Amino acid sequence: MQLAAAPEDVLADALQRFPAERIAISFSGAEDVVLIDMAVKLGYAVQVFSLDTGRLHAETYQFIERVRERYDLEIEMLMPDASTVGQLVREKGLFSFLRDGHQECCAIRKIQPLRKKLRGLDAWITGQRQDQSVTRTSVPTEQDDHAFGSNDHPLVKYNPLAQWSSQDVWDYIRANDVPYNELHNRGFTSIGCEPCTRPTGPHQHEREGRWWWEEAEDKECGLHEQNVKPVAAVD
Ligand code: ADX
Ligand code: SF4
Repeated sequence: MQLAAAPEDVLADALQRFPAERIAISFSGAEDVVLIDMAVKLGYAVQVFSLDTGRLHAETYQFIERVRERYDLEIEMLMPDASTVGQLVREKGLFSFLRDGHQECCAIRKIQPLRKKLRGLDAWITGQRQDQSVTRTSVPTEQDDHAFGSNDHPLVKYNPLAQWSSQDVWDYIRANDVPYNELHNRGFTSIGCEPCTRPTGPHQHEREGRWWWEEAEDKECGLHEQNVKPVAAVD
């Protein structure tokens, strides 16, 4: 069996390969702060962005602020296009995802801003892990991103923690005193937007609290699919 590359090595290779303005960490949760902590310890001033859907928990905003202060980082908060959100809400209300599925709302609040950001990058780094979901079992540590990249603009996606377990992540967090979202102390394991996240019960899989009204196979919002359908460009 091939030995897994250490996340620090994957990260160091990525951050050496691309200039700082062309690569960034996509940050929202516990895994991503582990990556930030590693990058800082490796001596890189890494670019960090977060998709602010407008529907995050207050605790998540507080957590982002703690990370900003702890690592003395600029964290770019990417907002959705106001008129597109306005139209969705006007036509379908504030909770259309409970009725229609989460894809449309995620496309507007996450995918459009992400697509816009990635147009200006050559590589991005995420905290995806293989054991997070049935949809992620073959996530590699490095891949060509065909969902957001193209022949004209190739994009590399790094998932340095692909082979780590949740236990590995939390061992690192505790050993290095890494800040984490307060909601983890209240039964939340995987944390997304407030109306689409709830705590998990004993022995439930970590993503069962996300979009709990949908099937496990449907629990991708488009950030990490291999063939994301293009959404209308918002410039
Ligand atoms: S999601 O697609 O289902 O929401 P998940 O919460 O498992 O993703 O997170 C996997 C990785 O996607 C994170 O480690 C992070 O790199 C990226 N990610 C998820 N949500 C966001 C967000 N709101 N902003 C930036 N990156 C995010
Ligand atoms: Fe909308 Fe829920 Fe997706 Fe957030 S997770 S963008 S609230 S559907």
